[in-house]
Parts: sequence; C-alpha cells; structure tokens
Amino acid sequence: MKHDTVIVLDFGAQYSQLIARRVRESKVYCEILPYSATVAQILEKNPKGIILSGGPASVYAKGAPHVSEEVFELGIPILGICYGMQLISHALKGKVQKAAKREFGLAPLKIKDKHNLFAGLPSTLQAWMSHGDHVTKLAAGFKVLASTANCHLAAAGNDQKKIYGIQFHPEVVHTQKGTKIIENFVRKVCGCRPSWSMDSYEKLAIEQIRQQVGKGRVICGVSGGVDSTVAAALIHRAIGKQLSCVFVNNGVLRKGEAEQVVKIFKNQLHIPLHYVNSESLFLNLLDGVSEPEKKRKIIGGTFIRVFEQKAKELQRKDGPFDFLAQGTLYPDVIESVSVKGPSAVIKSHHNVGGLPKDMKFKLVEPLRELFKDEVRELGARLRIPHDLLWRQPFPGPGLAVRLLGPITKQRLDILREADAIVQEEIYKAGLYYSIWQSFAVLTPIKSVGVMGDERTYENVCAIRAVHSTDAMTADWVKLPYELLGQISNRIINEVRGINRVVYDITSKPPGTIEWE
Ligand code: XMP
Repeated sequence: MKHDTVIVLDFGAQYSQLIARRVRESKVYCEILPYSATVAQILEKNPKGIILSGGPASVYAKGAPHVSEEVFELGIPILGICYGMQLISHALKGKVQKAAKREFGLAPLKIKDKHNLFAGLPSTLQAWMSHGDHVTKLAAGFKVLASTANCHLAAAGNDQKKIYGIQFHPEVVHTQKGTKIIENFVRKVCGCRPSWSMDSYEKLAIEQIRQQVGKGRVICGVSGGVDSTVAAALIHRAIGKQLSCVFVNNGVLRKGEAEQVVKIFKNQLHIPLHYVNSESLFLNLLDGVSEPEKKRKIIGGTFIRVFEQKAKELQRKDGPFDFLAQGTLYPDVIESVSVKGPSAVIKSHHNVGGLPKDMKFKLVEPLRELFKDEVRELGARLRIPHDLLWRQPFPGPGLAVRLLGPITKQRLDILREADAIVQEEIYKAGLYYSIWQSFAVLTPIKSVGVMGDERTYENVCAIRAVHSTDAMTADWVKLPYELLGQISNRIINEVRGINRVVYDITSKPPGTIEWE
C-alpha cells in the first residue's frame, strides 16, 4: 500500500527534522524538502498536506527564504509553524511586525475556537514560543484560533482554503500536547490514513529489496553498530543467502568487541558473517602515527582495501556481487537547509571511513527513509538484541582517536583495559543508556605517583562522559563522585601504565566530544 504523505518545507529551522518525526509518530509518512523546492517537485510527492517550518529569518529581511505563492493555490492543506505562519500572512496580505517584546519560553495558550486542529485538547495549554516577529493583522478569510498574553494571533486559520498558522512550536516536547496538534493536522485536517509504522515498513522494504535485487548478490560491510546491523538483518530477511556480510577488525576496536559482533551475528541473528581479522595490518600501518587526520586516513583507506580484497575473494568463489548494501539513514539524505553550514563541514571529516565512490556496485540502502528511532524500532522487530540497538555511538577510527600521541599496540592495550573499566562501571551504575557517550582517553602526559613504596612515572588517563541528542552539541555529565572514585581506583589498580585519572568537564562547544 502506498502511504499518504505530508511534506515539511524547511526554512532553516533547527526543528524541521523534529516536525517530520512527530508526523511519523502520528503514523503518517513525512518527507522534508528545502524551501526552494519547486511546485513540480512538491507535487511529485503527491502530498496530502504541507507544513512550513520555522526559520531564523524575518519575512521582510533581504534574502529571506520564501515559498512560491502557487503553493497556496494548490488546494492542499497547509500548516505554517512560527516563521511558516508569518510567511503565510505575508504572502496572503496580512501583516507581520516585530513584537514589542521578544517572546521566548513557555506561555499559556488559550484556545478560542473548538477547531479540529485542537480536537481533544484542554482549553488552555503550555506552548513553547520563540519568536521576534509575529502576525499583527490576519489575511482576508482568516480567523483567530488561539492566543497567548503577548501574542493575540498565536494560531489562526482559513477553513475554506485549509490554511493554518501557529506561532508556537508544537514539535518540541515543552509544548503540552504538541504531538496531538500535529496529529490533528495530518489526520483530521489533511485526512491522512494512519498507515506508517515499522510493521508496514518492514513488509514494504522486504518487497522492495526483493524487487531491486532479483537474483543478484549483495555485499554489506558491518561494524557492529546499529545502522549496519539493522540494514543487514532486514536484507537478510528479504534475500537470505544472496547477502554476504563482511566485518573487518581494524585493530582499534574495544575490548572483546570483535568476538561480540561475531557471536551476535552467529548465535542471535543467524546471519553468516565473513570475519576478516586485519588487526596486524592496521597496527603496522598505524605504528608510531600521532597526527589525528593521518590516523583517520590510514584507517579509512586500509578499510577500503581490505574490504575490496575480501569482496574479490568471495566473488572468485561464488560469483560476482551486483549490489553494495549501506545503512544510510534519512538525516544523511535530507537536502535540508538547516544542516548546511558549519555543522555539515564538521560532519564531513567523520565520513572518511566510507566506501569509495568508484566501486562498481549499485546501492541497496533500505534505511534511507528512516530516522534513528525508527531504525531502532525496526531493529527490535528484527530481534536485534537491545544492548546492540541502544549502544552508545562509537567512531569509525575507534580507539585511535582516543589515544593521543603515537599509536603502539602496547598503548592501545592500556587504553582498551581502562576503557573496559569505564564501560563496566557506568553500566553497573545504571547510567549507560542515559549517557550519549562515555569512554577513556589515554594522554601522552606522564606524571609522578607513588604505589606502595615505589615511585611511579606513568600516563594520565582522562574520563569523558557527555549528554547529547545529536552530537552537534554536548554537555559533560555530572557523574556521581563515588562512581568517578570507583572508576579511578579500578583503573589505577588494575591497569599497568596509568597512575593518574582526571575527569573532562568541557562541553561542546567549545570542546569536541572526542579528543582528536
Ligand atoms: P566530535 O568529536 O566532533 O564528535 O564532537 C561528534 C560525534 O562524531 C563521532 N566522531 C566520529 N565518527 N568517524 C566517525 O565515524 C570519525 O572520524 C569521528 N570523529 C568523531 C564522535 O564519537 C561523536 O559521536
């Protein structure tokens, strides 16, 4: 069954992806397009509703993003959020002005009209406001639907045209019943059927994979992370033995990680895995290398070579591969205006470990339409163990970028032991799943200590733990002192080569999550 679709036009809001996720939580499929999408591009998606996102600009500012006015004549229901509401008003000849007081934070929203948009909601609710401009005069045919003390026209609509605007942000968790407002728009106003779920997606994706691949063969590189594992499990369910999974041990994995990945694939997922242990090849090439970007390049480049070699070997045995499977997710695909700019630049260097563009395979990317939370839900349906689905992110270059100074096998082993203690203690304290990332860093600094009667001169180890939602910004975690003490004691007692432990209390920005 084809799903009903709602489009979010992105005007540069940090919340555009959140809007799309809320729509999907209402079981309606949603895609994001840049505000500059043409009417033809919008119509190609056959949307049953269009949401205009917020954005940082002022509608009157020079170069402010606008939408083609034709969009308002399509007869497709429209909801403008914040800047989106101001755009509607501007386009349809209402008035937008700078507010006397910039409104930022929670405000009680009084609902003035028992409209479908607010069906099932209390008559007053807390709404999240964040705006400098607001609509001061409605366009012809519009009526007020809700107000706050500072913003009389906090929600307005034209039922004939099915065009609505709200000044507050229903997509953020602070707004009470915000998800319900979005659900009301897509289900009651646009009339979308609630058909989008991971159950329906799984069936559809399996069908599509079978159609795309036919009798062909697929190769998939897996890392033990969420995305590649879910992609592999889904493809395996669709085409079974036509899929070959390859897992490369690059020598900079955590303690026991390679064995664990092999075990999960074999015993729990029952997916055959070609395990390539290239630890010594990587470590030979990395030996003595200190420069972070050089480490990344060596690891990325060597991975490609090893993967290609394994692919060739498997092809010689069982015939050619036609497709390469990848666990690309929707946020990587969106041509969003809000992810351009500095954050995109920061991200690009993280993709060094990817596969080469000139590989002669067609791509199978069954997660291209999904957000991370949907991937996890799908993974649970595919019986992927909870621990793997919710494990903290781990960078492609692994421990190499947590080992400052020259890489040696011996120093890696020291870091591996210290890191295992951090993981174990954080896990035991029940904090593992509420922390974005937690790990040990081995510094090249040596400090003096005493152990028993002996003077020591060993390395300093740093502990890092951060809260984050997207790795773009992060806060250091206020770990309990007892836990920090326990981690420090254990590392110093159990790991030869470390005699001092410090805790990193830098947030991002100005710091980064990793130390390199
Ligand atoms: P930073 O250190 O830039 O990290 O704050 C942000 C997020 O990206 C991860 N990271 C990487 N991931 N290859 C990866 O696959 C890399 O080279 C890389 N460097 C950083 C980091 O763990 C954090 O989640």
